[in-house]
Amino acid sequence: MTAIEQEVEGLSEAEARAELDRLHEAIGAADRAYFEADAPEIIDAEYDAMKRRYQAIETAFPELKRPDSLSDKVAGAPVEGFAKIKHAVPMLSLGKAYTDQDVIDFAERGKRFFERDKDLELVFTAEPKIDGLSASLRYENGVLVKGATRGDGAVGEDITENLKTIADIPHRLEGRGWPEAIEIRGEVYMTYAEFQALKARSAAAGGQDYVNPRNTAAGSLRQKDPAVTASRNLKFFAYAWGFASADPAPTQYEAVHKFAAWGFAVSPLMVRCRTVDDLLAQYRIIEAKRSALGYDIDGVVYKLDNLDLQRRWGTVTGEPRWAIAHKFPAEQATTVLNRIDIQVGRTGTLAPVARLSPVTVGGVVVENATLHNEDYIKGFDSFGEPIRDGVDIRLGDTVVIQRAGDVIPQIVKVILDKRPASAVPYEFPHVCPVCGSPAVREVNEKTGKEDARRRCTGELICAAQAIERLRHFVSRNAMDIEGLGAENIDLFFSEGLVATAADIFTLRDRADDVRKAFHKRREAQAAEREKASGRARKKVLSAEERTYEGLDKLFAAIDARREPELDRFIFALGIRHIGETTAAALAKTFGTMEEFIRIGKEAAAHADNPREVFPSVDGIGDTVIGSLVSFFGNDRNDQVVAALLAQVRPKPYVVTISADSQVAGKTVVFTGSLEKMTRGEAKAMAERLGAKVAGSVSAKTDIVVAGPGAGSKLKSAEALGVLVLDEDGWLDLVKQ
Ligand code: IVH
Repeated sequence: MTAIEQEVEGLSEAEARAELDRLHEAIGAADRAYFEADAPEIIDAEYDAMKRRYQAIETAFPELKRPDSLSDKVAGAPVEGFAKIKHAVPMLSLGKAYTDQDVIDFAERGKRFFERDKDLELVFTAEPKIDGLSASLRYENGVLVKGATRGDGAVGEDITENLKTIADIPHRLEGRGWPEAIEIRGEVYMTYAEFQALKARSAAAGGQDYVNPRNTAAGSLRQKDPAVTASRNLKFFAYAWGFASADPAPTQYEAVHKFAAWGFAVSPLMVRCRTVDDLLAQYRIIEAKRSALGYDIDGVVYKLDNLDLQRRWGTVTGEPRWAIAHKFPAEQATTVLNRIDIQVGRTGTLAPVARLSPVTVGGVVVENATLHNEDYIKGFDSFGEPIRDGVDIRLGDTVVIQRAGDVIPQIVKVILDKRPASAVPYEFPHVCPVCGSPAVREVNEKTGKEDARRRCTGELICAAQAIERLRHFVSRNAMDIEGLGAENIDLFFSEGLVATAADIFTLRDRADDVRKAFHKRREAQAAEREKASGRARKKVLSAEERTYEGLDKLFAAIDARREPELDRFIFALGIRHIGETTAAALAKTFGTMEEFIRIGKEAAAHADNPREVFPSVDGIGDTVIGSLVSFFGNDRNDQVVAALLAQVRPKPYVVTISADSQVAGKTVVFTGSLEKMTRGEAKAMAERLGAKVAGSVSAKTDIVVAGPGAGSKLKSAEALGVLVLDEDGWLDLVKQ
């Protein structure tokens, strides 16, 4: 067990909940930064540590597991929206070899397995390992009937229509001699040329950036609209098969040649080898050709050629014994660091980006590399471990960069011999380059450790953070404005209709501009589809008419939220470290927004000892108070809040203890996950009705509300004979 996980054991339930919420948000932000913004904000080790801690908390406190738990999102598992397909034969993965010796050992294992067959010669094929996504194509009587992703190996997604758009995949097998039914397997990939062209098109249209060909191919395959997939010009190599009503041929080599005869593209680099030396020689040949191929490959796959022998050697734990992937080392190149730019992420994190003299690494021109954070540039990570042997990075340095698979280029080494005499240590800025607010490194209350990331304190005023704040403001657990999701917020922001939250409430006054924005987006989408499919569109007018109707609904939904609950409103402000639970505690303590602001400002005025004015609130520690002090200490935040309060009137938080309610005076424990409300809401509701909410079950407990996943608390309740209700039972009871 690591030090971090041990610590989890000591958390109280309230601390664990707050910590889980914080991690949920941080991991989500890191994912978005990586996958959407192409600007990772943290280094892999930190990310992994956060994920581990998240899981450790879930294990220690199963009843705190969120319904939207990140642990349930398995990378590559089927996504919603596509039907699931069970592969008739599972899609296996491959064991890996990293060194020549690993390959020698692999061949030795084969020799030993077939020891008794005296004169048997083991022949292997060698072919490139394509860095794409595997897919399985089911042909019945020569006709493509279903195409699926790998998924978790057993069950994938039905993406038949998308796969049919790939020119290398025949809809009907050519030639003759194919088995009645066969699942052809291979790799979908995107060439560098296609990737660069898409990036350029997208940049010209002000669209999203794309990280690498592999991720882009994956995204392209999961499009709802096959016309979009078609526009991406994906490619496919066939190299294996799953279920087959008859062997396609007696050997691997001949089978793949049959695939070519049936109309598939197959790798021209596959050869047969009789000795380990031949395999290793082919590895070097393919490695030498790698940068000229025009698409990513990440190794060479060796397969035992004879199918009867393959079957005899067999499979272990999802990997065939008879095949192995010999991986290439990560590709490196040397270049010069010309400049360091500081990007401000959507959560306010200052992310340094290295601007390099352009250099080709494995066929891709690299001009940028992530520098992660201040410590990374200095040469030590947040655990104090040296990075690059503790060598710092300076402007003008000659550096070795590395690109490996999905990973964004990294600076792995500084060539000190080439460091210019004039180079000085890099000074990381202490102000936000976007809004000019101080950028600080927070100290973790528990560990006493400084955060590796410097963060802009501009809260509501920093343009870089505006979108993320607006999205949070309207989100389901915050203001929950129907019909105003992240997509519309992005649109209104980019069209200049909404800059801060207050602007949302004046949209009705600008109805015409809103309509124009919707119209513009619709036109752009239609044009994209038209370009992708080559088909002219129809029904533009009726779409426009629907927009008018939608507008009225949207404005009505906004008006309906002009008197939000105080706790939701405080949460919606997105003040750092104020999650739902803390917001509810603050609302309960202060009762009204005015009182909250008054105390917040007073605390800010006593910044040296804010505890003096701040009442003791359950679950609120120095981190939250520090955050309130910096929020209320910034005049520009005041202006934003004042503008908002001119539009909305948060309802005072009233604790109505209704003595006549069924649950007044009772002690209630919630356990397991709730589906109709959040934990915070459930707790607040129970308290409004005069109940006391406890964290653990004892003889004093009157009611246990148990949702799916309830564990030890439910058991104790049953042992003690306490009344147990499910969520609906509870709602029925309180309704009475
Ligand atoms: S054979 C029974 N051949 O590598 C073996 N796989 O780590 C099935 N891959 O999921 C795979 N190029 O996505 C095979 N020439 C190749 C490959 C290849 C890429 C991928 C494939 C598979 C993964 C296994």
